[in-house]
Amino acid sequence: MENTYKHISVEPLAPAIGAEVSGVDLSQILSDEVFAEIHRAFLSHIALFFRDQTLTSGQQVAFAARFGPIGRYPFAEPVDGNPDVIAIIKEAHQTSNFGGIWHTDTTYLEKPSLGSMLYARQVPAVGGDTMWSNMYAAYDALSDGMKEMLSSLRGINSAAKNKDALRMDHLEDGAMTGKNVEEVDVKMATHPVVRTHPETGRKSLYISQAHTIAFEGMTIAESTPILEYLYAHAIQEEFTCRFRWTANTLAVWDNRCGLHYPLNDYHGHRREMHRITLQGDVPV
Ligand code: SIN
Repeated sequence: MENTYKHISVEPLAPAIGAEVSGVDLSQILSDEVFAEIHRAFLSHIALFFRDQTLTSGQQVAFAARFGPIGRYPFAEPVDGNPDVIAIIKEAHQTSNFGGIWHTDTTYLEKPSLGSMLYARQVPAVGGDTMWSNMYAAYDALSDGMKEMLSSLRGINSAAKNKDALRMDHLEDGAMTGKNVEEVDVKMATHPVVRTHPETGRKSLYISQAHTIAFEGMTIAESTPILEYLYAHAIQEEFTCRFRWTANTLAVWDNRCGLHYPLNDYHGHRREMHRITLQGDVPV
């Protein structure tokens, strides 16, 4: 994919994934030409970061809507006044963080998220970085034998696996709180373990340590050793990038071909991010 740009600057964060984009003010309505370059960078780098953006929730939603329809995250109440945005907050006294395990978003839905958009409202003075990993690269690096074996497998994905990671509110007694928590145990979907990206046509490994419990037609005992191998394979350093947040940075990433992992190394500090989930399609 061509990587020259006329309207924006794109600086890769790491060879495999991630790029910082500058030269654009996301509070404004972007021309089709500018958005086309951002979208091309999104497909090339999987995760994009825009620093120093001053955005209302409405402006964040307007930019998100350029990527496609806005989806709804099933387990959180939206922020006041905007049904499309949820707040991901870890208070200074809390010790667990939301989504604190390598994953791609909402694989337990029939139509998992296309991508997610996170706007940093408050970041810790130290720590609180997020990592991403490139699942095209992870797939490409598998042996032909493993690719062949995975080609016909479907993963069973459950919202109940690691359900503590979905908690929006971290109570001392460990109880899960948030919206629709009674549905956590029933939200499940099966998807191909190797999916083909609908826009790039590339194959990627589509497993999520937070959600994938087994392969369809196989037992958990049979599936687990292969899944554990794939989870470790998928996050090798050469497939990843690590992003150091600053307040007012907006990130958008492609859940169809990338995993992410928010580090939980900032106890004693407050972090507040506002997330929009983009509606995806049925993985094939
Ligand atoms: C998420 O999984 O959406 C949260 C990412 C983060 O807090 O960095």
